[in-house]
Amino acid sequence: MKALIVYYSMSGNVKQTAQQIAGATGADLLALYPVKAYPDKGAKKFLWGGKSALMGDKPKLQPYIFNAEKYDTIILGFPVWASSYAPPIRTFIEDNREALADKQLAAVVCFMGSGDGRALKKLKKSLGVDSLKAELVLNEPKSQPKEAVAAKVEEFCAALKAE
Ligand SMILES: Cc1cc2nc3c(=O)[nH]c(=O)nc-3n(C[C@H](O)[C@H](O)[C@H](O)COP(=O)(O)O)c2cc1C
Repeated sequence: MKALIVYYSMSGNVKQTAQQIAGATGADLLALYPVKAYPDKGAKKFLWGGKSALMGDKPKLQPYIFNAEKYDTIILGFPVWASSYAPPIRTFIEDNREALADKQLAAVVCFMGSGDGRALKKLKKSLGVDSLKAELVLNEPKSQPKEAVAAKVEEFCAALKAE
């Protein structure tokens, strides 16, 4: 398996998890950054990002290099925003639909309380698939005991590698 983790992270939970998976599997990392960064403080943080997710926005992304042919597995990592996946992931999916079509797909989801199931459902719909090779759902992993998070990451990595 050669995997790429494509992720968006506002406050580091998804980023930390992506790095742990990369460490365990040798996967490469590709971080997505919107050209216009979402506010990450104060009332605007939830308002702008939440509205953007609800509206189904496709924010323009800073240039990135995605060498699809190098990978058989693409892991999409994102925080839940308004019970959906964070909008930069939508831009990535739409811009790379053809390249993603023949890949094994997996997801890494960080959330705070609810909407994880709906976000995953929406992700699968956007990808046009019924299921993913593996799913990792973590509640604010930066604030959780390291051992508990590590066990879930390990389980995810095993599912990724399974035939
Ligand atoms: C705009 C916005 C909307 C959010 N909406 C939800 C939500 O619907 N459900 C939820 O459980 N958490 C929600 N969260 C919390 C994040 O999903 C959670 O804090 C996640 O761990 C953040 O990942 P990150 O640190 O990689 O950005 C929201 C956060 C933001 C900024």
